[in-house]
Amino acid sequence: MFQIPRRPRRNRRTAAIRELVQETTLSVSHLIFPMFVVEGSGIKSEIKSMPDIYRFSLDTLLEELKEVTDLGIQSICLFPNYPEDKKDKLATESYQQGTLYLQALSTIKEKFPNLTLMTDVAMDPYSSDGHDGYVENGQIINDITLEILGKMAVAQAKAGADIIGPSDMMDGRVGHIRSVLDAEGYTDVSIMSYTAKYASAFYGPFRDALDSAPRFGDKKTYQMSPANAREALVEAQLDLEEGADFLMVKPALSYLDIIKLLNDTFDVPIAAYNVSGEYAMIKTASQNGWIEGERAMLEVLMSIRRAGAKAILTYFAKEVAQVQNG
Ligand code: PBG
Repeated sequence: MFQIPRRPRRNRRTAAIRELVQETTLSVSHLIFPMFVVEGSGIKSEIKSMPDIYRFSLDTLLEELKEVTDLGIQSICLFPNYPEDKKDKLATESYQQGTLYLQALSTIKEKFPNLTLMTDVAMDPYSSDGHDGYVENGQIINDITLEILGKMAVAQAKAGADIIGPSDMMDGRVGHIRSVLDAEGYTDVSIMSYTAKYASAFYGPFRDALDSAPRFGDKKTYQMSPANAREALVEAQLDLEEGADFLMVKPALSYLDIIKLLNDTFDVPIAAYNVSGEYAMIKTASQNGWIEGERAMLEVLMSIRRAGAKAILTYFAKEVAQVQNG
């Protein structure tokens, strides 16, 4: 025998011991399930670039939500898909009374009062330019956008949103949204800010789901450069000062260092968005038999938790719930 006083393998010897020493956990309660709603009825159409993820009309969405909540999922984030003819430069449809998205939110809240309902605030699903902000002469105009985002946020709060998720990356949006929510009496509605949202190639399948790809240019004048970490500290500081309740990092996998940086630096809960492209990679590789999908899914989500995320938005939420329910 060699003299090896510390043998780390002892702590890996049995499944029970491995569980005793497990540092990080992953459960359904950590997950927020992003879902897509579309106009019409009886619709459940799979998004080609996101296997097993569907656009639902409100009626089928409610059926799906029964299953989702029965599986123990307690939080969802809803996104709308609007037809081209409902889109305009000012994203007017986003705060129109009775519009698909707001109607879906209020119906869901009524039928599933205990479900935590997160919303998305940005112009892209409703914008004929396919940008998150208001466009004039090819430029994204920050402060005009804020006014629109404020109206959108109040309309969503009114419809029953629990958590407002500004995903637009305009300057000052969290502060503006907080102040209009408070002015309207929605002091209990939380803000989960997309704090460090990077200009990423991993959003492609999501833009398919919403038909929301930018009609010109890219999002680099508002979303962050993948090269920057210190800049995330600036965004985080501002969001906190402006009243954010959670700071989110997006995407998750190529930005685990940013999740850790924010978690080490700030006291608020950090969330991460395991985005559509990250989902699609695992799904397609696993459908081809190239990787074990279920293990890869759990490994990836655990890595995001290990990096410091409390909450994870992930298209895998339902699958995790199915696995964990045996
Ligand atoms: C847009 C928005 C995007 C996502 C969530 N909100 C895409 C974008 O910025 O173009 C992406 C989510 C995903 O890829 O899963 N406001």
